[in-house]
Amino acid sequence: MGRRAVRKIDPQLDLSRHLTAIEAIPIPLELATLFERDQPLEIEVGSGKGLFLAQASETYADHNFLGCEIARKYARYAAAQLARRARPNAMVVHGDAQRLFTEVLPGGCAAAVHVYFPDPWWKKRHLRRRIMNDRFVAQIERVLQPSGTLHFWTDVYDYFQATLAVLKASTRLLGPLPVDEKPAGHDLDYRTHFERRMRLGSQDVWRCEFRRQPVHDDRAANTNVLAQS
Ligand SMILES: C[S@@+](CC[C@H](N)C(=O)[O-])C[C@H]1O[C@@H](n2cnc3c(N)ncnc32)[C@H](O)[C@@H]1O
Repeated sequence: MGRRAVRKIDPQLDLSRHLTAIEAIPIPLELATLFERDQPLEIEVGSGKGLFLAQASETYADHNFLGCEIARKYARYAAAQLARRARPNAMVVHGDAQRLFTEVLPGGCAAAVHVYFPDPWWKKRHLRRRIMNDRFVAQIERVLQPSGTLHFWTDVYDYFQATLAVLKASTRLLGPLPVDEKPAGHDLDYRTHFERRMRLGSQDVWRCEFRRQPVHDDRAANTNVLAQS
């Protein structure tokens, strides 16, 4: 399904506190420098237009939210939503989440990782481009703190099943734990824009959660490329 154009961003809006390029993040990353308050971190992979970040950062003001979006126009749009709402606890990294996880994020830094409706790459020859591959799910496990949660939702049944299989084969995450669909209380009461689109179009959505083992295990700890060098 194609993507709709994004609305123009007010040129007066200051995005500097809500948007950064991945290249601009100093390594090693000092998480305390990204947000005003030192509080639990949740990371969203592929934030799109940023509905999740905008809503979750309001509902859970005592958590910090870091979105990662590879498409510049969506990264800017999502950051603009946060800047308009003056959210001190949410920002967007413009860049490839695979690079963010592999090169930037320290082990055990996140209370949750959210992956909603990742690009399905339908064609057989493109399947290896799917982000929920064996290397990336191992990075998710590494970045989650003990008992941290992975949220994975998709409208593609085959991608859902393939991801369950890759999580089982490549991680020790506990799951899948089922997630119920919640009735929408208003027009934007959805987890993300894609969930809204799928549900308004009466399409199925497949949801699950996984938890990292409660006790810190060495196997997944600190194996990013920085720790190895
Ligand atoms: C199908 S859209 C879903 C957007 C949003 N999660 C939602 O549910 O509305 C997938 C998003 O992931 C982004 N994306 C794809 N590959 C990515 C990557 N490697 N790193 C970060 N973002 C990525 C795309 O640009 C796109 O905005």
